[in-house]
Amino acid sequence: MKEKIKAFLFDLDGVIVDTAKYHYLAWKRLAAELGFDFSEEHNERLKGVSRMRSLEILLEVGNIKLPHDEMERLAAKKNDWYVEYIKQLRPDEILPGVQRFLDETRSRNIKTAIGSASKNTPLILERLNISGYFDAIIDGTKVSKAKPDPEVFLKGAEELGIKPEECIVFEDAQAGIEAAKNGNMYCVAVGSPENLTGADYLIPGFKTMTVDTILHNVTKAIL
Ligand code: BG6
Ligand code: MG
Repeated sequence: MKEKIKAFLFDLDGVIVDTAKYHYLAWKRLAAELGFDFSEEHNERLKGVSRMRSLEILLEVGNIKLPHDEMERLAAKKNDWYVEYIKQLRPDEILPGVQRFLDETRSRNIKTAIGSASKNTPLILERLNISGYFDAIIDGTKVSKAKPDPEVFLKGAEELGIKPEECIVFEDAQAGIEAAKNGNMYCVAVGSPENLTGADYLIPGFKTMTVDTILHNVTKAIL
């Protein structure tokens, strides 16, 4: 008999809001300052990846090696630009169907948490006016190990007081899917099957998604 699902854990960037385009603008600007082009295809490699690791990948693309303190300075500079974009975020940028899905989740008494690598999580949730939807918020300031390590989701489950096997994680990045599975949780991939493997169920987004559809397809059991 499968466990009953008691909590949904959501990745933030790419699941609740499309911040990738703002990360991209800021990284592209940094690459331009360093004298090379950074394409949208390159940017795909940064999804779900920490700020410092993203910079390492960007510098690999530009074939540039820099000392650590200079990297710290550039990462901070990129973040300042990114924060300027994020400050302009509006509630209508929540991805289609997400707010309705969160409302339904709450009305079904399923606990909710955010599990994100982003240190800008509180600002983003505040700009979207959805902080109150989450019983726990675990972000990049609270973890020491990046996805695919399960730390971010295990901490979320712990804060909610729910066992990992009673949780469903929603993720748009391959490293995030692996983090959920490494943490012994169910995982719903949000995106397209060409880029994402290993999840229990895949959805293109939340537009027409209901809690029952998720529970039924993920656990193939309890309704
Ligand atoms: C993840 C994003 O959620 O957060 C990555 O998918 C980003 O692209 C990472 O690099 C860290 O975000 P931040 O806001 O702390 O720079
Ligand atoms: Mg993501």
